[in-house]
Amino acid sequence: MIIITSPPEYFSGQLTVPGDKSITHRALMLGAISRGVTEIKGFLDAEDCRATINCLRLLGVKINVRDNRLLIEGRGMNLKKASKVLDAGNSGTTARLILGILAGQDFETTISGDLSLQKRPMKRIVEPLQSMGALFNGESDRLPITIKGGKLAPLNYKTPRASAQIKSAILLAALYAEGVTTVEEPYQSRNHTELMLAQFGANISVKERLVTLEGLPALKGRPVRVPGDISAAAFLMVAAALVPDSEVLLKDVGINPARRGVIDVLFQMGAHIEIQQERQWGSEPVADILIRGGSSLKGVEISGAMIPRLIDEIPALAVLAAVAEGKTVIRDADELRVKESDRISDLAGQLKKLGVNITETDDGMDIEGKAGLKGADVESCGDHRLAMALAVAGLAAEGETAVHGAEIINVSFPGFMPALRSLIIK
Ligand code: S3P
Repeated sequence: MIIITSPPEYFSGQLTVPGDKSITHRALMLGAISRGVTEIKGFLDAEDCRATINCLRLLGVKINVRDNRLLIEGRGMNLKKASKVLDAGNSGTTARLILGILAGQDFETTISGDLSLQKRPMKRIVEPLQSMGALFNGESDRLPITIKGGKLAPLNYKTPRASAQIKSAILLAALYAEGVTTVEEPYQSRNHTELMLAQFGANISVKERLVTLEGLPALKGRPVRVPGDISAAAFLMVAAALVPDSEVLLKDVGINPARRGVIDVLFQMGAHIEIQQERQWGSEPVADILIRGGSSLKGVEISGAMIPRLIDEIPALAVLAAVAEGKTVIRDADELRVKESDRISDLAGQLKKLGVNITETDDGMDIEGKAGLKGADVESCGDHRLAMALAVAGLAAEGETAVHGAEIINVSFPGFMPALRSLIIK
């Protein structure tokens, strides 16, 4: 449980946020199926990425930690049959992306996850993989799922929703298909898989929302430097923006255009934010981000192509919207209903307890900003991002806020509360 008492005077200082979760998963998986060694610097050491490590180890991949780096001895494209069921824990990215790789393996594997992950839809991955030739038991819309892979056919696929997990699972499977696979999305989702595949030697090209990949490449292991996770940074950015006189510098944060929607919206809301020292780590752009608190904030509309660019940051942004002037309208975000919790109804339900004026809609929410939230007992609903958002909301509330079930934060940001506390100046 986290307890937030009186609001801090202000936040000040600088810190480095943990490594990007999406990039860490992908570096592990591509390292596993490449030839040679992949060294990952700045990886996210949190439960979700440990789930990926454990699954890959069960599939015969040697992964060691040395000097804060992960060393992966790539097996090439063929993994080993696992001796037991793979456990993806709470991690949707682990389950969905590994299914893509398993589609190309000539053996049967069963993959499961925790109770939250067992409720999340998998048909969106299973259907395209089936069309490529992978075999599944029954309906397979929920974990546990048993997959038998093998020789695959290439696919031309239009995804019904902008989802990097769907796109990535198909691209990983396409590595095992002779010929050219294409994936087209309605809006662009995060493109870490495409960028990293090119770096590992795949023949891949991207034209707007259309990705084209040639199968059967000879992937080669390589060093990967993982930027700080903008999705983790978002909670600290919002905390600093909320509290007058704060000045926080977040170092080495990934600012990939497909992920930096939160920065764009903070600008639009009137937050004081500066992007400093822009540079490139491999194919990923990185910067230091300075946030000052106390600007007057106004409500905004967030919808359409912006949604995939900040899908994981909506809980954090909802907290800022709660104290901004005017109304914030979020639409086209029905995907939030099938995240680690129902991030529309669970977020609205918990924020209401703190006095937030929030109404849920089918595909989003309306938030009428106001001053003066009040402390309350709230629940993480088993969702790491809800837990962090509620802790940050507690900073803007009078009195004590207790976030129950906050251990779930370890899924993505184990040092979250110590990091936040290290910035508090009383
Ligand atoms: C992720 C993609 C997103 C995001 C998730 C991580 C990824 O999910 O919400 O936290 O690493 O590919 P969808 O692809 O389902 O939108």
